[in-house]
Amino acid sequence: MKTLLASKQLDEYTEQHTSAELPVLAKLNRETNLKRGDAVMLSGHLQGSFLQMMSKMIRPKIVLEIGTFTGYSAICLAMGLQDGGHVHTIEIDEELHDMAAQYIEEAGLQDKITQHTGSAIDIIAELEGPFDMVFIDADKSNYERYFDLVFDKVPVGGYIMADNVLYDGEVILPEEQQTKNARAIGSFNRKIKADDRIEHLLVPIRDGVMIARKLRDK
Ligand SMILES: C[S@@+](CC[C@H](N)C(=O)[O-])C[C@H]1O[C@@H](n2cnc3c(N)ncnc32)[C@H](O)[C@@H]1O
Repeated sequence: MKTLLASKQLDEYTEQHTSAELPVLAKLNRETNLKRGDAVMLSGHLQGSFLQMMSKMIRPKIVLEIGTFTGYSAICLAMGLQDGGHVHTIEIDEELHDMAAQYIEEAGLQDKITQHTGSAIDIIAELEGPFDMVFIDADKSNYERYFDLVFDKVPVGGYIMADNVLYDGEVILPEEQQTKNARAIGSFNRKIKADDRIEHLLVPIRDGVMIARKLRDK
């Protein structure tokens, strides 16, 4: 109990000692929580700040995001783009398009973010790359496929990141107690660990973010 309490207090302390959420992101966070029962999918202040910081460190030219939802992480990822850089973000649910577009515009990023509506597998095939930074945050059963589809479109030194790789802690349960999604994430994590073309780091922020850096093509 004491540990749980400490963990909640430490989460609050961590947020308080992280730069404040930008007003446009705070507004988007609030509206998503008011309007959507699945608002837990949004990255939020801490993870959003982490994505912003990663983007500002990498200074990518082209970013690919798989899973736009209401646009929170796409806006964060766009913050560190090089001059002339661009974010491509893919979302299968067309009903989300307008809300994400409204906030992308409010953030002044309408010329830097392209929203693609449809199945990620189809759209990735149409996009040429190269992508200096990829953020996988859509259907868990396809994470391995997304990794394989983007790998050749990421240059050596480029980054492939994936969200929810701890899957609410389920990844450490015995497999027979895991949900289908947790098993898919477990399998993705093992695939990353076994791939010697990349170096990787599992960052235990929020629900876990895997960061893989490409070392070679083959
Ligand atoms: C966890 S949410 C993304 C959250 C967003 N990246 C953020 O941090 O605010 C996952 C999104 O992926 C979308 N999605 C699920 N399957 C997809 C697919 N096959 N192709 C494209 N998008 C998909 C869902 O509709 C959902 O909006």
